[in-house]
Amino acid sequence: MDVKHLQQEIRELAREKKAIILAHNYQPPEIQEVADLVADSLELSLKASQTEAEVVVFCGVRFMAETAAIVCPDKLVVFPRLEAGCEMADMISVEDVEALKARYPRAPVVTYVNSYAEIKAVSDICCTSANSVNVVKSLEADEIIFLPDMNLARYTQRFFKDKKIHYHDGFCPFHDVLTVEDVNQAKEAHPEAVFMAHPECRPEVIDLADAVRSTSGMLRFAKESPAREFIVGTEVGLLYPLKKQNPDKEFYPASEKMLCKAMKLISLEDLKRSLETLSPVVTVPEDIRRKAYQAVARMLEIPRN
Ligand code: 13P
Ligand code: SF4
Repeated sequence: MDVKHLQQEIRELAREKKAIILAHNYQPPEIQEVADLVADSLELSLKASQTEAEVVVFCGVRFMAETAAIVCPDKLVVFPRLEAGCEMADMISVEDVEALKARYPRAPVVTYVNSYAEIKAVSDICCTSANSVNVVKSLEADEIIFLPDMNLARYTQRFFKDKKIHYHDGFCPFHDVLTVEDVNQAKEAHPEAVFMAHPECRPEVIDLADAVRSTSGMLRFAKESPAREFIVGTEVGLLYPLKKQNPDKEFYPASEKMLCKAMKLISLEDLKRSLETLSPVVTVPEDIRRKAYQAVARMLEIPRN
């Protein structure tokens, strides 16, 4: 079956099943084209918490579908490929969090949404790459535990002289892989280009950036900027919406190594099958969900940086 026909069938099925299709900015183009909303983690969590649809079909990675299940327990959250995980989310356990809490007993725990429900459940508040600074600002404490991403933690620390951020040593392998050499090479090849970096990049890469933004933040920045050329320091999937929204501008990947395989697993066939069968479903045990909800709901009150 051709792509257009499959996409039409998916839209009809979504209508029939009263489903909303949410997709992350890194999803393959054909999935982005069929979604009701394509966005960053913060916007997707907000949409999931506000939608009136009966079914939420999530195209992204598992922690995102889980976050939807945490904020809308009365809805069916369908996730076409359960095995689409996140390597950063896998880098922290509840024991790691307990150890950090024992070491810094006065410090509230700020947890990046790129984590599983049981980690959120032992946290005080969540954040995303779009609001981490405002989340930390909202806390009175002068010491914070931040997990699992050490790069987002160190980026956030730059905004605070009066607060000490203790962090776990997790990272995203597809952002941490970007080096100063890669960026300098890209800058040499495109001397007029503006360099945008995601806060999951290493500190020395952040130092070279003209703008540090979440994925949707980069989309807004590129649209508003007078620049005509951009080097994109995030997962290569963002190149598609950047080009689509700015056909008169040029976008170059900072490195082709920035490719998250888990983000590319869901196919149109998977999505169609999931809508037909309303499966597989992501659920979170109620005791964990209730605790995780506190941390996510608290975050959703906080504006973007
Ligand atoms: P944002 O889209 O929230 O910037 O997140 C990037 C990411 O790594 C999601 O997995
Ligand atoms: Fe996780 Fe990195 Fe993939 Fe995002 S890009 S889902 S942080 S592994």
